[in-house]
Amino acid sequence: MTRKPRLICVAGARPNFMKVAPIIAALKARDIFDVVLVHTGQHYDPDLNDRFFTDLGIPQPDYRLEVGSGSHAVQTGTVMIKFEPVLDEVAPVAVIVVGDVNSTVACALVAAKKSVPVVHVEAGLRSYDREMPEEINRVITDSISDILFITERSALDNLRREGVDEKRVQFVGNVMIDSVLQNVRRATSAATTLGDRLPAGQPYALLTLHRPSNVDDPVVLRSLIDCMAALSDRLSIVFGIHPRTRSRIEGFGLSDLLAKSGIISCPPFGYLEMLGLIEGAKLVLTDSGGLQEETTALGIPCLTLRQNTERPITIAEGTNYLVGNDPAAIVRAVDEVLTSGGKTGRQPEFWDGQAGERIARALEQAYLT
Ligand code: UD1
Repeated sequence: MTRKPRLICVAGARPNFMKVAPIIAALKARDIFDVVLVHTGQHYDPDLNDRFFTDLGIPQPDYRLEVGSGSHAVQTGTVMIKFEPVLDEVAPVAVIVVGDVNSTVACALVAAKKSVPVVHVEAGLRSYDREMPEEINRVITDSISDILFITERSALDNLRREGVDEKRVQFVGNVMIDSVLQNVRRATSAATTLGDRLPAGQPYALLTLHRPSNVDDPVVLRSLIDCMAALSDRLSIVFGIHPRTRSRIEGFGLSDLLAKSGIISCPPFGYLEMLGLIEGAKLVLTDSGGLQEETTALGIPCLTLRQNTERPITIAEGTNYLVGNDPAAIVRAVDEVLTSGGKTGRQPEFWDGQAGERIARALEQAYLT
């Protein structure tokens, strides 16, 4: 029997998992490639990792690189060193990388230097802020990718500006939204997730923070906790705390402030819990990229606590507002949303649950015809 051509799909960190799930499902349904899932181990805590595999029904990885945490150089370099022998052994027709984390750029670099085609899913997004490590990962990954799948049309303008050949770019929509639409009916209700930590029927805002710009500076982090504490007099604040943020809170001596703040502190949520919490929230306060898109898909107002976004369609067409991290601006924006109900938004083009299928079709054309 002839062997099916192999495709490596790379996943490393939490925001990758909801992107690879629909791609793997669509490829497996066609049954024309052998899909080899490589998990770099950038994220390893069960809260950021195992629960997502279970919630999203992702098959167990074929290879685990177990790179763990480290500086950007150590983490990126370790992924590269550990990925190279896997790439040699598997000998795929292409390597699929998603998003903008260190694992994305590391595996793309290894593949490109071995003349193995790189497929980048969620290409062309730009914040134009090189202080964000992800922006550097995006620019480098796109510059060495052979097929660039984009989630919104503005990404094509960004790629054109960087001289990327348009023939390599395909607008397929947003795989992250495939996952939202496939799973929202199974979402865990906020009442189940929060139990007696949130009185029944009490309105709440959902908060997540993990970007260096918000959590690495003690003055900024303290001012954000103070701001959320003040807001929690008006509506409950449910805070899912990323391990990186937890360690900063402890390291900066802010644990007491948080404990006394009235904020409902929780460990990071699983995927189905997160969907339920977004759906039930009055609004979401976040510096995450993915939540900006998920709130648009679910029609829930989102206040992004950053100075810029690489996902402008969530503002132009969706429910997102760019607020920054100045407490006065945050309070004003919350007031506006609570008074007006916030933007209702509309579904951006191709955020329709079919992006994984479009990608599978395009890969079949690219590597099998
Ligand atoms: C990474 C991504 C970021 C993404 C985020 C989502 C990069 C550059 N950043 O940031 O784009 O939005 O994931 O979560 O790739 N840690 C744990 N347990 C884990 C993983 C991390 O405790 O399983 C802690 C460690 O202290 C680690 C720190 O979090 O040093 C940072 O982890 P890292 O993967 O480097 O970056 P994130 O902040 O998670």
